[in-house]
Amino acid sequence: MANSAKKKVDNGRTDWFVHDRFGMFIHWGLYSMPARHEWVRHNEKISNEQYQKYFGRFNPDLYNPKDWARMAKDAGMKYFVITTKHHEGFCLWDSKYTDYKAPKTPCGKDLLKPMVEAFRNEGLKVGFYYSLIDWHHPHFTVDKLHPMRENQEERKKNAHRNIKKYTDYLHSQVRELLTKFGDIDILWFDFSYPGEDGKGRDDWQSQKLLDMIRKLQPNVMIDNRLNLPGSGDFETPEQFQPLEGLKDKDGNPIVWEACQTFSGSWGYHRDEQSWREPDELLRTLIDSVSKNGNLLLNVGPTARGEFDYRAQDRLAFFAEWMRRHGRSIYGCRQAPPEFKCPAGCSLTYNPVANRLYLHILAWPYKHITMTGKAYTDRVEYAQFLHDGSEILLRGLEPWQEANHKLGGKENISITLPQTKPNVAVPVVELFLK
Ligand code: GLC
Repeated sequence: MANSAKKKVDNGRTDWFVHDRFGMFIHWGLYSMPARHEWVRHNEKISNEQYQKYFGRFNPDLYNPKDWARMAKDAGMKYFVITTKHHEGFCLWDSKYTDYKAPKTPCGKDLLKPMVEAFRNEGLKVGFYYSLIDWHHPHFTVDKLHPMRENQEERKKNAHRNIKKYTDYLHSQVRELLTKFGDIDILWFDFSYPGEDGKGRDDWQSQKLLDMIRKLQPNVMIDNRLNLPGSGDFETPEQFQPLEGLKDKDGNPIVWEACQTFSGSWGYHRDEQSWREPDELLRTLIDSVSKNGNLLLNVGPTARGEFDYRAQDRLAFFAEWMRRHGRSIYGCRQAPPEFKCPAGCSLTYNPVANRLYLHILAWPYKHITMTGKAYTDRVEYAQFLHDGSEILLRGLEPWQEANHKLGGKENISITLPQTKPNVAVPVVELFLK
């Protein structure tokens, strides 16, 4: 198996992950109130005092994590990752190390516990995003990303700030997250920017942190943003899709997960108009799996505690497609290289079932031709995945073949109906010998 090199290193803790392929990211915090990007403090250079107006009024009265969990499950997502604390420093759980937390706002309760429970009850695995950056903590020194970066008074106060105190806080909170919520499946740290006026592994004490985590929960997967080369269980391309599967320096495939937004912002952004079309998002999932990757698709709930209607629409769209097509996603990976992908299509492969999945992204003129001996030697049956109807392996007529110039017999064509079936992306399931 292509993952064998990785497995030796990670103890098999990524096995479930590369099988499940599809998760939900949730960015939720005080920034859902200004509703104009989770970086609003940075973008508008908002001080702690000015930002306090949100803390004093945070009250997501319509919050029902059971609804969230059900929508995620219906959409076919198998795990979720929640921002327990984002760069603003606000904590969703009842941390004993700070008062800057949900229970101290008008909402008056721990928001994380019931969320973890609800998602677990729906069978989803649990991931915690934790921001290494903290713009609220008094000992987090002002640096080039900080909201107060241009405020000289605040810069001067750095002399009295002690980043070690912040680091202790960070480590204590991670310990808390790993001891108060049962087994956690993913820890998603965000992010390092070492070098001048930035922060990296020395500031976070990344190695020490990693050692503690491995002691507390040896099976938790950790992302690659601790600025500790070689420490990540998975890579995290963000806001772009890799051109091909990611590999290590010896050319072995590595575990990766693209994290993507519906519209651009991660936190709820009321006025953002750049929402992606549902079928584009679906193609992004297929694209990830066809390159050995996962997709973590983000929702930014509102300040009342609900998923925006546009997010709900897109999740419902996934639910409709995944119900019938999960087989081309779960347990699937990049097709072996001898199976060349026909134009306008995307291929995934399930090595256990020994089937190829041809996702038809652009509906063709009647035939799709697959070239190469791998196809002619090994494909023995084909059907649509959405309705299990046979697809004839007989392709072009001999007189058409003569004009086809495809290089002799080393290809097979399939004959498709004239009109595209009524599913967003039709999939042909190819049974291999
Ligand atoms: C970035 C951003 C952040 C977001 C994250 C998700 O690093 O700082 O707002 O949470 O990406 O990948």
